[in-house]
Amino acid sequence: MNAQLTPASAATNPELDAFWMPFTANRQFKAGPRLLAKAQGMFYWTADGREILDGVAGLWCVNAGHGRREITEAVTRQLTTMEFAPAFQMGHPVAFELANRLAQVAPPGLDRIFFTNSGSESVDTALKIALAYHRARGAGERTRFIGREKGYHGVGFGGMSVGGMVNNRKAFGSSMLPGVDHLPHTLNTEHNAFSRGLPQWGVHLADELERLIALHDASTIAAVIVEPVSGSAGVVLPPLGYLKRLREICDKHGILLIFDEVITGFGRVGKPFASQAFDVTPDLITTAKGLTNGAIPMGAVFSQRKIYDAFMQGPQNSIELFHGYTYSAHPVACAAALATLDIYVKEGLLTRAASLSAHWENAVHSLKGLPHITDLRNYGLIGAVEMEPRPGKPGARAFDVFLKCFERGIMVRQTGDTIAMSPPLIIEPAQIERLVETLGKVIRETA
Ligand SMILES: Cc1ncc(COP(=O)(O)O)c(C=O)c1O
Repeated sequence: MNAQLTPASAATNPELDAFWMPFTANRQFKAGPRLLAKAQGMFYWTADGREILDGVAGLWCVNAGHGRREITEAVTRQLTTMEFAPAFQMGHPVAFELANRLAQVAPPGLDRIFFTNSGSESVDTALKIALAYHRARGAGERTRFIGREKGYHGVGFGGMSVGGMVNNRKAFGSSMLPGVDHLPHTLNTEHNAFSRGLPQWGVHLADELERLIALHDASTIAAVIVEPVSGSAGVVLPPLGYLKRLREICDKHGILLIFDEVITGFGRVGKPFASQAFDVTPDLITTAKGLTNGAIPMGAVFSQRKIYDAFMQGPQNSIELFHGYTYSAHPVACAAALATLDIYVKEGLLTRAASLSAHWENAVHSLKGLPHITDLRNYGLIGAVEMEPRPGKPGARAFDVFLKCFERGIMVRQTGDTIAMSPPLIIEPAQIERLVETLGKVIRETA
């Protein structure tokens, strides 16, 4: 790709044709590309040299900010020492070191760690562990999963099936996992619009799990999977007490609870994991993104020790879990994750969102009263602005806002008619002001 490519010259540039872009309106993008060429700290620079304040940590992953020298050096060192080592029936020290270090920041008991390469792989891995765990302890009839409407758990067949976003599902209809049911989502602007932090109304929505259990019988259900805070569907927060209630119901019925912390893991909500922020301990946690600060693809599933131990039986030379990826515990990714963890710990980033969250909350809610805004939501360093859709054109208004924000030098995310923000955890108060004020100006100007 020619780094000099400008949006104007690229409109008819065949150089853009070969890349089938993910989750992108390809034709629209290629007619007016937004090309990022460089990043440092809180900023990106476009291919034509414009500075863009990163309001979304890349894609909810660059928690320590861009261009971290320590990560680059660790990756370079590992590449020159040993670029690859198989993790099947072989090992390398960096993987064990990383697992031990992660176990130290994990919620109590979740200290057995399986490595993957992405959030989607973490989710499918956790679902498979849940099935195989029940089988290993003699409850192989527990095969159902319960997800939630508006949930996003990546794009594998497992994650897609337990997910609840219609556009991610409808084209693949008959190929979903069988035996999946969904809880209702917890977004309710009638009761909770403009709540600051967690909404007060809606704990009873967790009781819907009892209804699904009554329908299917607990003995058929392997696991419930939810995001403690969901991002992709436009930031959906758990009502106060909701996650605790889910935990109680799962415990009562012997069902595993999986928290998908692909976006909430590694400091996003003011504690290393949302599980700690909400004081609810699941059986499995799926992660990715912030694990390596986005520098190298990697994911990890954190498992309760009791689950791991249930597999450790039978002849010693038998493989306990027939699952893994060529690049599980890739040495370069492990090195990147270790360097990332060092930064997080040294700079206090796993809890920094907690100290910024009051400032962040005030900034996000300062947008109240602007045209078309129907709700504002915030938690930790996550913010969402929901807008009234244009009649007959869902998503169009927020997409225009997203485009104009990019022109004005800030990067935000758009899903449906919601603008989401999740900046790197190194953001300074003045940059929060700049982000929110620019967004506010754009919203005022957008019909
Ligand atoms: C909660 C959650 N789970 C899973 C995923 C999928 O992660 P990946 O895109 O790395 O496969 C995402 C991605 O945004 C996510 O937000």
